[in-house]
Amino acid sequence: MSEAGARESPQRDGEGRNRWGLLVTAAVGSSLVALYAVATPFVAPALRKVCLPFVPATAAQIQNVLKMLENRSGPLVDIGSGDGRIVIAAAKMGFKAVGYELNPWLVWYSRYRAWRDGVHQNTRFYISDLWKMPQLEKKLEEELECNARIIACRFPFPCWVPDHTVGEGIDTVWAYDLKHSRGCETKSLEIAPEIES
Ligand SMILES: C[S@@+](CC[C@H](N)C(=O)[O-])C[C@H]1O[C@@H](n2cnc3c(N)ncnc32)[C@H](O)[C@@H]1O
Repeated sequence: MSEAGARESPQRDGEGRNRWGLLVTAAVGSSLVALYAVATPFVAPALRKVCLPFVPATAAQIQNVLKMLENRSGPLVDIGSGDGRIVIAAAKMGFKAVGYELNPWLVWYSRYRAWRDGVHQNTRFYISDLWKMPQLEKKLEEELECNARIIACRFPFPCWVPDHTVGEGIDTVWAYDLKHSRGCETKSLEIAPEIES
């Protein structure tokens, strides 16, 4: 090695270290940005006043929902559809099924699952915030078809009396039959009497 070459090598070593330093910083930085982008939509619901974290339906719960859908047809909507498992199960039973979900990653994953399971023609998934749907109970009563059935998992509606209940504990599923709607002169959903504390 020449004298000049020997003098240059510590400088090259320094440049190499700098390059590695930049690479490591860039890798750590982009990993943190990716982690933030993935985690935020999952964590955000938990920071709300009324928290609905992503706790996917169990197999038993899906069976309970499907039981409630027996002998019915028409469109189905899952509000807070998570990874789309209920929407997809319903689509496999022949329903045109729609999921609304706050978390965009879950919406894209649901779309992928529906495509993978061959039911993408009968499913739609939208990114949507249910708290921005004003007064959900009232809206459902006003806008759903006369014979609509609303099925709640894990959280029953606070003011309605369910027409059917199936399952136990976290797998409990409640069904509310909408017996009136625009143009239908039958009765409204029953409202639960106020419980005195
Ligand atoms: C208990 S999980 C149920 C998931 C799915 N329905 C199932 O049974 O597998 C509730 C879902 O609601 C979503 N969610 C929470 N807050 C929401 C909001 N404000 N608008 C729409 N979806 C919401 C969560 O991201 C979560 O995926």
